[in-house]
Amino acid sequence: MDYKVKDLKLAPQGAKKIEWAERHMPVLMGLRDEYSKTKPLKGIKIAGCLHVTKETAVLVRTFRAAGAEMAWCGCNPLSTQDDVAAALAREEIPVFAWRNNHDDYYWCIEQVLKTEPNVTLDDGADLVFTLHQKMPELMEGVIGGTEETTTGVVRIRAMEKDGKLRYPIIASNDAVTKCDFDNIYGTGQSTFDGIFRSSTLLIAGKTVVVAGYGHVGVGIARRAKGLGGDIVVTEVDPIKALQARMDGFRVMSMEQAAPIGDLFITATGNKHVITLKHMRKMKDGTILANSGHFNVEIDVEALEKHAKSKKEVRPNNVCYDLDSKHIFLLAEGRLVNLAAAEGHSPEVMDMSFANQFLAVLRIVQEHKSMEPKVYSVSREQDERIARIKLRSMGIKIDELTEEQEDYLSSWDEGT
Ligand code: NAD
Ligand code: ADE
Repeated sequence: MDYKVKDLKLAPQGAKKIEWAERHMPVLMGLRDEYSKTKPLKGIKIAGCLHVTKETAVLVRTFRAAGAEMAWCGCNPLSTQDDVAAALAREEIPVFAWRNNHDDYYWCIEQVLKTEPNVTLDDGADLVFTLHQKMPELMEGVIGGTEETTTGVVRIRAMEKDGKLRYPIIASNDAVTKCDFDNIYGTGQSTFDGIFRSSTLLIAGKTVVVAGYGHVGVGIARRAKGLGGDIVVTEVDPIKALQARMDGFRVMSMEQAAPIGDLFITATGNKHVITLKHMRKMKDGTILANSGHFNVEIDVEALEKHAKSKKEVRPNNVCYDLDSKHIFLLAEGRLVNLAAAEGHSPEVMDMSFANQFLAVLRIVQEHKSMEPKVYSVSREQDERIARIKLRSMGIKIDELTEEQEDYLSSWDEGT
């Protein structure tokens, strides 16, 4: 078996981490139990390009239990947990991933594609992009794919609009049990995990500027408030901006926020949200972090070019001397929760990856009637996952009575 990881000797430590995650992912473990009997993915090869973490490993083991073969790489040069990658390689999964694989990032993706997959499972669409642009000859056996994150869904929708998408892709991200939980609660907590590990600083009493008030931004702003921060939100969407204001946050432009913020966190999925012009207005000691998918939200290139010097002050924390002020950039401006911490907690990845599992199953079962376009997750899938999750939490909910169902579908009962 071909694979490339940092050090196979890390495997026992990685295996322990995976077992810890398994204890906290009851929905996915339930699916593993159910589908390991019938093996509906037998004969299917999956190419995975998604952060190599302990939670991802639980998904990988679940696919294998359901009969699939896989090859896997990370979707960010800084997010691979080397011990987990080693554990997967030891379990004979062809893994091409190690932390700091900046120069070999696309090489790893290509190795995974060379296994001639039937299904692509992507996070950010780099795998889908590489397949379409660089290795189209491998597309013949591909029956469909799934996409894990908002930025990836934006990219594949753009491909669909340009008539370039060659096979159906299910937007797993857009499942309610994914984006209303992973993006909000998952990122809300893990972003601070990354900020704490790389800075150790207190949030209470700080002005925290959150760029973007979508799913991720809402989660971060809520947690920052809970930690005692004074929150400022920047937005481009007038409705989101209004929501942020009515949630009790100050709203202003980045230009206005630049000189008053102590900590900036970007979560927009957009590029150059914090530019050199903004950085030049910032206070001495300002900290910059990003939780959006790509490292383009903060203009790191401009900072690198114009700073007089830079020095690593702690792991994942580099001090730049810009106009004789100190600006601290966390995790190279890459997603701080995965680059400086371990990403989201297993409890929330449980639902995200249950969505991924069921989406792959749907591709396998329904691909013949699907077109090369972006598909949504069905309401049934979302409800199924929510019900299993509630059950695992020991929570019972009410059911509509027949009388209530009739009432809700009638129009003749009024005042
Ligand atoms: P979303 O579409 O719900 O929200 C993005 C928000 O950013 C929107 O409200 C939009 O109006 C706003 N925005 C766009 N450009 C802006 C600008 N220039 N200034 C201020 N606001 C701007 O998306 P989301 O689900 O919140 O995802 C945001 C990013 O986070 C994406 O890149 C996504 O892939 C990524 N993500 C990361 C993680 C993680 O683990 N770090 C998890 C989930 C999603
Ligand atoms: N995205 C955010 N957190 C993650 C995790 N723990 N594993 C995989 N992908 C993630």
